[in-house]
Amino acid sequence: MSKPVKTIRKIAGSEPIVAALVLGSGLSAIGDLLEDRIAIPYAELNGFPGAGVSGHGRDLLIGTMAGKRIAILTGREHYYEHGNAAAMRPALETLAELGTQTLLLTNSAGSVDERFRPGDLMLIADHINYAGMNPLIGEATDRRFVNMVDCYAPELRDKSKQVAERLDIGLGEGVYLWYSGPSFETVAEIQMAIRLGANAVGMSTAPEVILGRFLGMKVWACSSITNMGAGLSAENISHEHTKAMAVAGAEKLSKLIPALVEEL
Ligand code: HPA
Repeated sequence: MSKPVKTIRKIAGSEPIVAALVLGSGLSAIGDLLEDRIAIPYAELNGFPGAGVSGHGRDLLIGTMAGKRIAILTGREHYYEHGNAAAMRPALETLAELGTQTLLLTNSAGSVDERFRPGDLMLIADHINYAGMNPLIGEATDRRFVNMVDCYAPELRDKSKQVAERLDIGLGEGVYLWYSGPSFETVAEIQMAIRLGANAVGMSTAPEVILGRFLGMKVWACSSITNMGAGLSAENISHEHTKAMAVAGAEKLSKLIPALVEEL
């Protein structure tokens, strides 16, 4: 048993965790939805996200959502923080060891498609790994050759669309293109993303999807659109703007995610 697993079991008990939820920039309010919540600072868990990025939380939360035992990572570690695409591997491996079979990922993203406006949600149907980095580089076993077809579980996408319709939340599907960041994109890079078939761009999530599939988890991911990509609107793109605009998406995700968890 790994050290973080021991620590988590000691503090929060050893009942299996059904699903893990990773919160993106400005989305940490979703953590308030957990009942009987236990917070464990990342600092107490070897390998969990380090110093971090403003707008991200620094705790692992364990509690109940829709009657199910859920873990929430209130903040993630990004490739752009140090150049390690596998930064989330220890945390996700810990969750897998705790029995987690479903990984729910959220992020803030820039839209490159008029169908998705700031404040909207975009259900991720597939991604383009344009950062060109892979968290499984260095993995020495044949398990590294992960099949990425349907890596965003079709049954979870269908369930979330049904739930969104019932709750009257708009939830179109799209392709997420991973740019490494941390600088935002140039106008030409956004035009390229459009030509490549992307609907939104962001600086996270894709490596976690690869890791989640590697660990045998079912993966679901949703973007909260905070801005139009560079050059597509007159507004100025900044991290402050991203955090401020994430509020509308967080409100929708706060309704959508518990309803989806209920269906797991
Ligand atoms: N680009 C990349 N990442 C982002 C953006 C963006 O425009 N908005 C929020 N995260």
